[in-house]
Amino acid sequence: MTSFDAPTVIATKRDGGRLSDAAIDWVIDAYTHGCVADEQMSALLMAIFLRGMDPGETARWTTAMVASGPRLDFSGLRRGDAPLVTVDKHSTGGVGDKITLPLVAVIAACGGAVPQASGRGLGHTGGTLDKLDSIAGFTAALSNRQVTDQLRRVGAAIFAAGQLAPADAKLYALRDVTATVESLPLIASSVMSKKLAEGASALVLDVKIGSGAFMTSAAAGAELARTMVALGAAAGVRTRALLTDMNAPLGATAGNAVEVAEALEVLAGGGPADVVELTVALATEMLSLAGIEGRDPAQTLADGTAMDRFRALIAAQGGDLSVPLPIGACSETVTAPRGGTMGDIDAMAVGQTVWRLGAGRSRPGEQVQAGAGIRIHRRPGEPVAAGEPLFTLYTDTPERFGPALAALDGGWSVGDTAPPPRPLIIDRIEP
Ligand code: URA
Repeated sequence: MTSFDAPTVIATKRDGGRLSDAAIDWVIDAYTHGCVADEQMSALLMAIFLRGMDPGETARWTTAMVASGPRLDFSGLRRGDAPLVTVDKHSTGGVGDKITLPLVAVIAACGGAVPQASGRGLGHTGGTLDKLDSIAGFTAALSNRQVTDQLRRVGAAIFAAGQLAPADAKLYALRDVTATVESLPLIASSVMSKKLAEGASALVLDVKIGSGAFMTSAAAGAELARTMVALGAAAGVRTRALLTDMNAPLGATAGNAVEVAEALEVLAGGGPADVVELTVALATEMLSLAGIEGRDPAQTLADGTAMDRFRALIAAQGGDLSVPLPIGACSETVTAPRGGTMGDIDAMAVGQTVWRLGAGRSRPGEQVQAGAGIRIHRRPGEPVAAGEPLFTLYTDTPERFGPALAALDGGWSVGDTAPPPRPLIIDRIEP
């Protein structure tokens, strides 16, 4: 193998050059094995953040990250005599995005199998594993054999992506604390390396656009979606993307345990309309890509079959839903300064609030608070009376209220008219 050194690779990108395939293979391999230090990789990530990567570099960076670990293969998966089709979804990250929880259960109830490799929170966005950790006893540390067994028995498994694309696991944690998250090639390669290594035969991407997303403009979101769909297609995985709105938080909660509670409401046939709409829309795409016909995702929420699958999944992974979900020991309520109509609620403000309450981390490996979060009592367009509660903030550490309330300040309003409605599902991208 050609030998490289980190300062030269960093300088190439710093100066606007192109990284060769060999340089990318070397730096990903060397970083995975500890031969390139965190401070060197941080500098390279910042250079990539500022200079970008072209489609060829992004594709090679993705392939190198997939090759940093094992690749699962579910092509022979069967339940009894029937083949089981694996299909997954991945969101690029949003605020209040608990969709994975009801969605995997819906697909399992419809006869699909979801091997869902998940991550922890990144920046101001929440992570599925941080949310699920708030369920007593739940573990996401599953062996490959456990994942396969669970797919057969339950139809879904949610596991730490750590073993898959281990290069991404290290890079993801480093990007989270070096302000290098919002980069199209780094997001595309991060998402797709995990998803390609995970071995699902079909994949639906939920690409978030708006103030609370990593991509704030529709044009950037569409480019990210096209990049990821092309990476999936090139690897032989049927891939499709929905572009969805992330200007306002999804649902009425953001945080960890509070989002699990809301997902349970959706699985019980209730819950906020936007969470239900997106769950059903993504499920419809997943079933179509998996070739599963004649199943109605909304029906599985109404008739309890999705809830049955969710309970089976949690139990299979050691979780006990009979233990009450934690909630922060301290709470603070924001009330309406006047009567009127709730205006827009800014997803980024809510994401920062929740992060400051302790639901996210500011150092790698930091413990997050299961009970930290926010409950949104009035959604945009709803009538509000003066003095009514609008938001309740929860944390175990009350000194966090000051910074959290400062983040929320200016992120909402009460006015005389309802804000114009925005479609939740903006577009759909296919190869
Ligand atoms: N989700 C990921 O898996 N990686 C990113 O970089 C952003 C969102």
